[in-house]
Amino acid sequence: MNTADLKKLISEGIPSELPDPKPYDKNINHAPRRKDILTAEEKKLAIKNALRYFPEKFHKVLAKEFYAELSDYGRIYMYRFRPDYEIRARHIDDFPYRSCKSAAIMLMISNNLDNAVAQHPHELITYGGNGAVFQNWAQYRLTMKYLSEMTDHQTLVVYSGHPLGLFPSHADAPRLVVTNGMVIPNYSSQDHWERFNALGVSQYGQMTAGSYMYIGPQGIVHGTTITLLNASRIMKKTKTGNDTTLFVSSGLGGMSGAQPKAAKIAGVVSVIAEVNPRAITTRHSQGWVDEVITDLNKLVARVNRARSRKEIVSIAFHGNIVDVWEKFAEEGIKVDLGSDQTSLHNPWAGGYYPAGLTFEESNSMMVSDPERFKTCVRRSLVRQVEAINRHTVRGTYFFDYGNAFLLEASRAGADILNPDGEFRYPSYVQDIMGPLCFDYGFGPFRWVCCSNDAHDLEKTDRIAASILESMIKKSPEQIKQQLADNIHWIKEAAQNKLVVGSQARILYADAEGRILIADAFNKAVALGELSAPVVIGRDHHDVSGTDSPFRETSDIYDGSKFTADMAVHNVIGDSFRGASWVSLHNGGGVGWGEVINGGFGMVLDGTEETGEKLRMMLHWDVNNGIARRSWARNEGAMFTLKRAMEKTPGLKVTVPYIADDQLVNNIINPPAPLKGG
Ligand SMILES: NC(=O)c1ccc[n+]([C@@H]2O[C@H](COP(=O)([O-])OP(=O)(O)OC[C@H]3O[C@@H](n4cnc5c(N)ncnc54)[C@H](O)[C@@H]3O)[C@@H](O)[C@H]2O)c1
Repeated sequence: MNTADLKKLISEGIPSELPDPKPYDKNINHAPRRKDILTAEEKKLAIKNALRYFPEKFHKVLAKEFYAELSDYGRIYMYRFRPDYEIRARHIDDFPYRSCKSAAIMLMISNNLDNAVAQHPHELITYGGNGAVFQNWAQYRLTMKYLSEMTDHQTLVVYSGHPLGLFPSHADAPRLVVTNGMVIPNYSSQDHWERFNALGVSQYGQMTAGSYMYIGPQGIVHGTTITLLNASRIMKKTKTGNDTTLFVSSGLGGMSGAQPKAAKIAGVVSVIAEVNPRAITTRHSQGWVDEVITDLNKLVARVNRARSRKEIVSIAFHGNIVDVWEKFAEEGIKVDLGSDQTSLHNPWAGGYYPAGLTFEESNSMMVSDPERFKTCVRRSLVRQVEAINRHTVRGTYFFDYGNAFLLEASRAGADILNPDGEFRYPSYVQDIMGPLCFDYGFGPFRWVCCSNDAHDLEKTDRIAASILESMIKKSPEQIKQQLADNIHWIKEAAQNKLVVGSQARILYADAEGRILIADAFNKAVALGELSAPVVIGRDHHDVSGTDSPFRETSDIYDGSKFTADMAVHNVIGDSFRGASWVSLHNGGGVGWGEVINGGFGMVLDGTEETGEKLRMMLHWDVNNGIARRSWARNEGAMFTLKRAMEKTPGLKVTVPYIADDQLVNNIINPPAPLKGG
């Protein structure tokens, strides 16, 4: 298809004639059938809601079709309206646009829905089983149309995938404001999500799915590599002997599929259990996991052989993770690092497959008998924790890797709580990400080359590496390790062939690093050294972006971890400091109702105004979280804030006085008076 035809189709919106129905493509990984949760009256409402996107002349045909989709899949996806052209990242000039920012947003949306990138592309799900870009294809079509028409004096407003419309605005405002899953707090249970989503009025945007900032599995490979490197360092402090480190976990899905690749980069032997054969085939064919084993005895023998030969191999076990933990405990296999990456933010609808049932049995039971399925999930979690506990008494370092494992296991009644009611195991943020990265401002900064050209990406890699190398020379001791890990990463990134979809890169940097890198990219665009603008953004899973008591803010110990002021302020502050788009979500990572998170995208177009905006916005985007973490008395953050205030005129932040523990203890529990005094 030539570019002119493509542009015409992208800007078409809702077609004036009904397109032919689309056959259900069995070669695509489809979302599981969702729970039948609506009453008969609510089903009518869902159909009426869906028909709002179309002229009355289509209603007779579509009403029937949408009812069939609702009955068959639990949702109305409007499959018929999925475009015929290939949806993927392209050069921004291949998109129809009046504002280059809106073209960059179209590129980012297209990447999130690319068949090679998205987990369930036909259901508009990018990752995590339910991380939606849009709820249906009408929303996609209308959004692309609006973006193709939008000028720099309008802002597009999107409510959970629904494009509310273009509103007059000004050139310095964001071109797009997105919210996902924002509901009244008392209506934020798992079933509320099922109901609102089935009605077509809300969606689960995960973090980078509904904010159009997903860059394929690279983001999570980087985060997992950093986590495993630091977990190994923690574990080695107590480990005796120097045998090869063994990591056991589960999941080879959208994000979890990064584990074997990251383990390899971190120099660790890994065993990752996965029940879905399709997920295994994808990761194995991509070369992200070396070997596939389906028999537990063979798995034990292979692990022993790898260890004795010090062979860094990644193994996918086709089967249930519970069986692996139990078998390794029986066989006395010493596991050094353990975690879990099943989708426990979505435990009842395909996120977690219980032990004792086949994959197919689970898929049918979760729909036909959801209550029995819940019982099976709970029992399986109890068994899984029992087995993990047998390992940890022998020295395994087990950590929750942000999938709500500890939370759901505790809800299932597993033996996972200490007597004081706290979890027996840390979240990776408590031990690793919080004190080593977030408190110093290090977080998942990312960029996408809008030329869609690998040569531009290479140039940006070189620019970023040289900036980090010059920073490390004069950096304080506290952040040298983070800088060194990221210099190593960026230098190896091209060689590790991590690009799937758009020409994107990620690294962890602090406020200073992010500003210097973005500024250098903007200048390179101005000078023509980069052939097109660059989008910068980040995962919401960052220093300031996310309030999540069991993950990103699990290392906040002043009682404020259940508040969400930081994440909300972050988005508001980014939006008036120059972000090209902002988004605010309920849900993401650990589940609906469990987290508020936000993010931004900024298009570096090479202008001096953009230079000013990026300096102001990135400074706030990191230091907001540093200030909050410092107020919570996190030592690293107090150190980082002090440095930031010394360097930044105009930055004046409230800092805490530190109370003496003994003084406070003595007030609540006064020491017994001395006798005879
Ligand atoms: N720590 C982080 O930074 C981070 C980042 C992204 C996602 N997450 C969380 O990690 C989880 C996984 O994300 P994802 O995108 O990979 O989800 P996913 O649904 O694509 O993958 C999970 C995989 O686990 C498999 N699985 C489920 N139960 C199993 C069992 N008992 N044994 C073996 N395999 C089983 C599923 O078949 C699936 O392929 C989510 O909860 C997500 O929110 C954490």
